Amino acid sequence: MPLSPEGLVKAKELVASYPKPRSAMLPLLFLVQAEEGYVSPGAVAEVADILGVTKAEVGAVATFYSMYHRRPAGKYVVSVCRTLSCQMRGSDEVTAALLERCGTELRGTTGDGLVTVEEVECLAACDGAPVVQVNYENYERVTPEQATELASALLRDEVPPPTFAAAGSVTEPSSAAAYWRLAGLGEPPSRLTGRPEPEPVPASALPDQPVAPTDHDDPTTRSAEELRGGVDHGGAPGGAPLPAPDAEAPTPAQAGEPSTAKAGGTRRARSRPKREQTPSVEDSAGEREAEAPQRAGKRNGRRRPRGETHEQAGPHEREAPGGEPQ
Ligand code: FES
Repeated sequence: MPLSPEGLVKAKELVASYPKPRSAMLPLLFLVQAEEGYVSPGAVAEVADILGVTKAEVGAVATFYSMYHRRPAGKYVVSVCRTLSCQMRGSDEVTAALLERCGTELRGTTGDGLVTVEEVECLAACDGAPVVQVNYENYERVTPEQATELASALLRDEVPPPTFAAAGSVTEPSSAAAYWRLAGLGEPPSRLTGRPEPEPVPASALPDQPVAPTDHDDPTTRSAEELRGGVDHGGAPGGAPLPAPDAEAPTPAQAGEPSTAKAGGTRRARSRPKREQTPSVEDSAGEREAEAPQRAGKRNGRRRPRGETHEQAGPHEREAPGGEPQ
């Protein structure tokens, strides 16, 4: 069985922390990798057994993600990003320098079991291209010369601190410790890190925790009647409660206000003069008749086309000396 007794206990904790057992598949694969150094066929069978799924389902996941190794990986897993930004900034040369210094092939491990070199897709730090990771911590803007120095340090079993990393970041001293963290199990045990076990913190030294909100503090759990009281809406304490949505609103007369009809009448009275200024259809027709001779005079006063004689113009367009049509 690939999992140790401690690993089995952790596996059960992981499964219990998810609503469905199969949701724990990725953490379990990291756990077996922390224990074994890779995902062996036996580990695939054990994870399938724990989760109640088929070996094919576990194997499909284990072969899909590049962070699961199907062969034993080194103490230091060196991942070089080969995606566009990093490739344009010289990732091929960085990989070549690492492989040459380690004397191994891609995804191979040095004879002493210290270093595995692999290529991966974008590590989401493109502004630091070319990006290299050691046990999943970033080393950015790495030149081939720096890659050779990095490999030399790892082969001496030394881990340089990550570059361009957030304050306090450390590179895990073994890939097994990194996989333990990736399983979501927190601080790796000393057998994986070589660090002394952290001292347990006494409860008295822990800071006071804020009191957890109760259901009553959450407005979404209050009843509609309680919320209508207005206490959660920032209103003045003791203010009038909001009316229920199905309650009839008081009529203006009940409220002692001028009725809507009266208010509307006022609006109509104001707008009436505007409408009275608007001529009626009959008025418009009369005005058009009165204006007709003037318009006809203007039409008859048009400029005659070049070459047209007075006689050639139609009788309706012949003008009397006074400008009136004949
Ligand atoms: S392309 Fe290399 S980190 Fe994004």
